[in-house]
Amino acid sequence: MRFDIITVLPGLLDSPFAHSILQRAQKKGLAEIVVHNLRDYATNKHKSVDDYPFGGGSGMVMTIEPFALCIEKLKAERQYDEVIFLTPDGVTLNQSVANQLSIKQNVILLCGHYKGIDQRIRDLFVTREISIGDYVLSGGELPAAVLVDAIVRLIPGVLSDETSALSDSFQDDLLDAPVYTRPADWNGHKVPDILLSGNTPEIEKWRFEQAVERTKERRPDLLK
Ligand code: ADE
Repeated sequence: MRFDIITVLPGLLDSPFAHSILQRAQKKGLAEIVVHNLRDYATNKHKSVDDYPFGGGSGMVMTIEPFALCIEKLKAERQYDEVIFLTPDGVTLNQSVANQLSIKQNVILLCGHYKGIDQRIRDLFVTREISIGDYVLSGGELPAAVLVDAIVRLIPGVLSDETSALSDSFQDDLLDAPVYTRPADWNGHKVPDILLSGNTPEIEKWRFEQAVERTKERRPDLLK
């Protein structure tokens, strides 16, 4: 799967994709992440990508021209399934949205800044608007990194044990059961006996019950 991310701060995205699972996914050729500097598509002398809002008001608005030029260049090179704008007024990201997107081939992600982006970019190019939660960040770069991470780990072959993404919290609308590792007794704080029993069916039953209990307690909204 290929991601083209359009941003005024490409440096912000250097690190999130250069480690761990996202780095390995790229090395294996399962994900391609290309970051484009929006300023390279600015046609004016000062390479500015924003301007004052029509009608007045505070803050600057990102202009349509550089986004349009970058998106059109990319679209001339390959077909895109989605053009996604990261914005706090989008649909809130959840596991179901990540699952839907993980079967796409090529997506463009637009990162906004300042007071927002010219509405015509949204009207003409954007196919989906996604928020990562009900809070406002300084720009769309961190949300884009969050979205890419949530999607890439679902691509078959990215995780070494393919079942492990399927058993993630939320995949079955349940939170995960608690997990433990060595030592079995740390200063008198013991691991539940059942996990040391070797009785796999009983362990699975216990894990399911714990997951239901935790979900009831913390996220009753997930239990429909
Ligand atoms: N840009 C700024 N805040 C955001 C959020 N919460 N989700 C997505 N994009 C954003």
